Formats: sequence, structure tokens, C-alpha cells
Amino acid sequence: MKIVVTGTGYVGLVTGVCLAELGHTVHCLDTNEEKIKMLNNGLSPVFEPGIDELIKENSEQKRLNFTSNYVEAYRDADVIFIAVETPELPNGSADLNILFKAAEQIAENIQGNCLIVIKSTVPIGTADKLNSFIEDKLRYNVTFEIASNPEFLSQGTAINDTLYAKRLILGVESDKAEGTLREIYKKIKSPILVTNRRSAEMIKYASNDFLALKISFVNDIANLCEIVGADIDDVTKGMSFDDRIGNKFLNAGIGYGGSCFPKDTKSLHWLAYQHGYELRTVKAAIEVNELQKTKLISKARKQFPSFKGIRVSILGVTFKPGTDDLREAPSIDNIKILVEEGALLTVFDPVGMEKFKNYFPQVNYATSVEESLRDAEACFIFTEWDMFKEIKPEKFLSLMSQANVYDGRNCFSVLDMRRNGVNYISIGR
Ligand code: UDX
Repeated sequence: MKIVVTGTGYVGLVTGVCLAELGHTVHCLDTNEEKIKMLNNGLSPVFEPGIDELIKENSEQKRLNFTSNYVEAYRDADVIFIAVETPELPNGSADLNILFKAAEQIAENIQGNCLIVIKSTVPIGTADKLNSFIEDKLRYNVTFEIASNPEFLSQGTAINDTLYAKRLILGVESDKAEGTLREIYKKIKSPILVTNRRSAEMIKYASNDFLALKISFVNDIANLCEIVGADIDDVTKGMSFDDRIGNKFLNAGIGYGGSCFPKDTKSLHWLAYQHGYELRTVKAAIEVNELQKTKLISKARKQFPSFKGIRVSILGVTFKPGTDDLREAPSIDNIKILVEEGALLTVFDPVGMEKFKNYFPQVNYATSVEESLRDAEACFIFTEWDMFKEIKPEKFLSLMSQANVYDGRNCFSVLDMRRNGVNYISIGR
């Protein structure tokens, strides 16, 4: 079976690499020749633990190939996974231009019967639209089917999330398509739900939006905890004993970022609106998140009505630990405010600095936590990297000129920090 994966972003590359790891022959396709060149040299264009080793191993075994030649790739493909990006348009809807461009190239080049599988997160009904679109543009007399097979991987744990998937959602219209996908995934021992394409598309949005909602709910409660004198960490711990609530995605902080939650909440809200329905819960999650992102800086105003000329240490810029991704990272909103006010920033992040330099070339960069903290009058923590969680109060006290620590990810015990003399402000505690 010849498998082509179109798009070598997070989802596409991880899908391609993992399918090769499962024993398939996979051709990863991207029209960006720079990316293909990098991959052919064994370098991953995305930071993801474990991916470099798998690229190397599977390329050596000739199971994994990288190409920008879509004519060659599609010609005799049996299965084509589309994993191109579907970015957010200014009105919140998903931009499907790249997806339809890929579909056009597929329609013009497939010369045998094939299954086209949508992995990208797409608005409900897209598979149906793509079906008619490809049918209209087919150049050869072939049969094809579109399936929806959404991806649930998280950055930082993407390889494991794929190879040991918690679920496989197969949105198909025929037993044949179901059979092909079951065959492809036969080595993955996880529950499989077979459904129609629209439900499969909805499962992806509903899952992401539910998690976003959970985070916004906890952040809302955290803000109330501050007002009424409760502690959000204890509150969520207490809640989590109820297995109907669970213990995951209950961490209060400065809001969710990344390439999925912000985009997928807005996209589903927009889709509902287009159908004349208002998704009020999702709207609330979006609004709470927007306000939450700069919550910490508002709290710091008590001590620093203005940050002009203030030496500020920034620890963590990525949208979460385990990735170098800065898309929609709450750090950006905060740092923008600090820079505009004239704060003197020294930024440190263990992996996100290279990308961060494109956003803020004008600030200082440190090569260690210590260098960032030295002589600072305030420290903001925007990402909960493990190495930050290990910082002892003494370090803040000895290195900073004033130990004002604003922690957007609740990395430390309030008691420990305050008992040791750190002016420690966190979220919901
Ligand atoms: C998410 C989904 O988890 C994944 O299933 C989907 O396929 C893609 O989107 P990802 O964006 O990689 O994955 O990151 P995730 O770990 O979900 O975190 C998203 C954001 O939520 C981060 O900014 C993180 O800091 C924040 N978050 C997460 C919280 O603020 N609190 C939590 O308790 C959990």
C-alpha cells in the first residue's frame, strides 16, 4: 500500500513518521522545498521529542521518504492523508485555501483508485464539500472516497499520543474505507469508533473545545478564589477525586495558547453562528481566556504601576513546556505590554528562544535562569518548564535586586516562597 501524507507540519510529520514506524511505506509531501530539504538531511522542521530518531531510523529503512513532487507522489497513491494547516481567518473561521489547493492537486494527479483521509481539523461538512470538489476536478477515470480521521496528538508527547492513541475515530461512508483504515492502524491497540464523516469532524472540535472550556472554567474559579480567599490548587484537587470530573486539565494559569484551542474554539463558534446558533459556552471560554492572558500583569500593577525602566526577568515564552512553539502563547501578550511600557527585559526559555527572537528582537536574551534573574526587580514566569519549578526561594532572593515573582503557572508553594521572603504572586491562591 502506498501511503502519501500531505503537509509536514506537526500533525502531518508525526503522522507520516508514525505510520512508517508501524511498518508502512510512507511518502511525506510538502510544497515547501526548504522543509523537504531539511527532512532529507534528517532534520525535523518541528521540535518534538523523539522525532529526529524516528525520522533517521525509518528513512534508513527506506520506509519514510520526503518529496515536494506531488505529481509523482499522488500518481499511484493508494491512501492520501491530508494534514495541511487550516489557519484562523480574521473573523475566526478556518481558512481552507491550502486544503482545497491540495485537493485540486490530488484530483488532477491520482491515476488509480484511492482513499483520501482528512487529518486536518476542518469545519463540519468539509469532507462532503471536498468530495464534490474532487469529483468535479478529477482528470483520470478513477474512484475515490473521502474519510475523516481526526488527530488528537499534543505537542511534546505527539509520538506517544499517535503510536499509543487513546482512540481512533474513523469517519467513513463505506465498509471498504473502514477496512483500509483498520488495516493501516492494525498495530495500534486502541478503541475504534466508526461513524460518519460529519460526526468525526465534530468529535475533534468538541474534544478540543471541551478541554478549552475546562481550562477557562478553572481560571474563572481561580479568579473568584482570589476574591473570596480560597486556594485554587486545593479546590481543583478536591474536585478531582470525583472521577466524573477527573484530574486533568484543571491547572489554573494565564490561559491556554497553542495552535489548536484558540483556533478551534473560535472556528466552532463561527460555524455555529453561520448556522444561526450561538454556542454560548464556547464563547464564554474564549472571553475568559482573553482576559486571563494578562491577569498576572494586572496583579503586578499593585507593585509596579508602570514598568518603565524596570529590570524584568522573563522565564518561559512557549505556550506550554515540551515545545518551542509560540503560537498564541500568553507570554506574547504580556511581553508586548512590558516592551511598550519600556521595561528592560531579559528573557530565558530552554527551547523557545530562537523562535521568540523573531517576535521581539529588541529585548535581552539570557543563556540561563541565573543570568535572566540577575539584578531583576521583577520576574514573570509564563511557562512551567521543570527546570523553573526547581528554583529555590533563596535563588530569587540572592540574584534579584528585589524578589518580586509573578508566577503565571503556579509552579511553587505560596507558603514556601512567602515564608522565605519572596513577594510571590500566582493565580487563584
Ligand atoms: C491540544 C490538545 O490537547 C490535543 O488533544 C489536540 O490534538 C491539539 O490541541 P496542544 O495544543 O499540544 O494539544 O497542548 P495542550 O497540552 O492541550 O495545552 C494547550 C494549552 O492549554 C497550553 O497553553 C497549556 O498551558 C494550557 N493548559 C493546559 C492550561 O492552562 N491548563 C491545563 O490544565 C492544561
